[in-house]
Amino acid sequence: MKRPTTKEPTISNINEIINTLKESNRFHEIETGVERKYIIETYGCQMNEHDSEKLEGFLTQMGYNKTDSRESSDLIIFNTCCVRENAELKVYGKLGALKHLKKKHEDLIIAVCGCMMQQDHVVKYIQKTYPHVDLIFGTHNLHNFPYLLEKTLNHKEAIVDVWSQEGEIIEGLPVNRRYGIKSFVNIMYGCNNFCSYCIVPYTRGRERSREVKDVLEEIEDLVSNGSKEVMLLGQNVNSYGNTLVNDVDFSDLLEQVVKIPGIERIRFMTSHPKDLSDKLIDTMATHKKICNHIHLPLQAGSNKVLKEMNRKYTQEDYLTIVRKIREKIPGVAITTDIIIGFPNETQEDFEETLTIARLAEFDSAFTFLYSIREGTPAATKIGQVPEEDKKTRFQTLKKLIDQIAYENNQKYLDQEISVLVEGTSKKNDKILTGRTETSKTVNFPGDEKIIGEIVTVKITAAKTYSFDGIIV
Ligand code: SAH
Ligand code: SF4
Ligand code: F3S
Repeated sequence: MKRPTTKEPTISNINEIINTLKESNRFHEIETGVERKYIIETYGCQMNEHDSEKLEGFLTQMGYNKTDSRESSDLIIFNTCCVRENAELKVYGKLGALKHLKKKHEDLIIAVCGCMMQQDHVVKYIQKTYPHVDLIFGTHNLHNFPYLLEKTLNHKEAIVDVWSQEGEIIEGLPVNRRYGIKSFVNIMYGCNNFCSYCIVPYTRGRERSREVKDVLEEIEDLVSNGSKEVMLLGQNVNSYGNTLVNDVDFSDLLEQVVKIPGIERIRFMTSHPKDLSDKLIDTMATHKKICNHIHLPLQAGSNKVLKEMNRKYTQEDYLTIVRKIREKIPGVAITTDIIIGFPNETQEDFEETLTIARLAEFDSAFTFLYSIREGTPAATKIGQVPEEDKKTRFQTLKKLIDQIAYENNQKYLDQEISVLVEGTSKKNDKILTGRTETSKTVNFPGDEKIIGEIVTVKITAAKTYSFDGIIV
């Protein structure tokens, strides 16, 4: 699959297409009395969440209304992830289940996009197995979505348009933002690290950073529309700036972001330990607005496994960074990602992961069973670890991580800490929920009116995954 040979849509004719579809949707509503609706189901990481926000922006401009029921949708989009096999299996299951809907509602458009589509074998499989899918596109041509949708609406046959390579970063698209209290901002795209287990460099292309000015303008816009917190996104934010002509790094960018009037909290993810600089730690320590939380994926504790994963640091390097962070940023929370059962991981290797987890005293960890990803170097390694061993190790690790998190959290008991109120609890609308700077969830009674404010909460119970508290 290559880039399309048809004339590339430009921003101005994308605008035209948006307007045409808007008119068509308006007429449909006048004629039938019902508005056209869409649903987007998103899998995977914040990159995908943010891409779905961009799609939503386009759809709002095109006059589509959001619904949370597939049955009442005219357009169903799955924004997919392929980082592990189970993410893919979920999508296949759901695509199968849509066949009957398509029979009932023949104008229904089913679209799939995101990382899974960047793999040839997946696209072929979907075309063969799920012929009711109308539109397939990838991560590199998301900005052409209105054009692709219009093509789909005007063709009887399915449209497949996946670019094998990233293009230039497209700025200035007519995207309607969802101005939430917290907003995601991409500072870079792609990844150059090629960890041997990981599919992301193949689905998201080479690393490229956005210009400082573009990032700042986007944040200014968000803040002036009510955002209190921004999460700067990149697969490895510590290499921000490498592709820019100007000599600028991630700390320099943060120094600019903290100056934006009205911004309250700045977060970022993810940090690769191999590129985390002392300068960044100092910048975090200097600025109150940069949250005291760092997500620092360990992946494995054994040096042998780390080498085979192509992570380019050792357990000693990792612990040195953790020590420095804790020394310079009092009260910091450190969270991580860990993979269990990478090929040839022995019980001893695994026990080293337990040791490093204990020494690093993680606040929490995402733990994953290693999943073979076709096309990555690790997929063809001999010495795959049996599933039962992976599962047993997983349980042991999870127990340890939970225990460390629980113990770690006790230090918050009776403390008064600042919490950004994010919304009401799903279970009880009299209970508000928010986050500490260290990214811990706090539940407390309060009035909905204070959603979006930063309040001081006294912690009355410190559990493994959350706190209870009262506003003081
Ligand atoms: N760029 C980020 C996030 C990458 S994907 C980073 O480097 O941390 C998020 C997490 O998924 C990774 O940190 C890793 O722990 C996990 N992951 C990636 N590929 C995987 C695989 N093949 N099997 C299991 N977990 C995987
Ligand atoms: Fe994947 Fe490694 Fe890149 Fe993270 S840094 S996205 S784990 S290749
Ligand atoms: Fe994210 Fe999954 Fe793609 S983790 S980058 S959506 S493969």
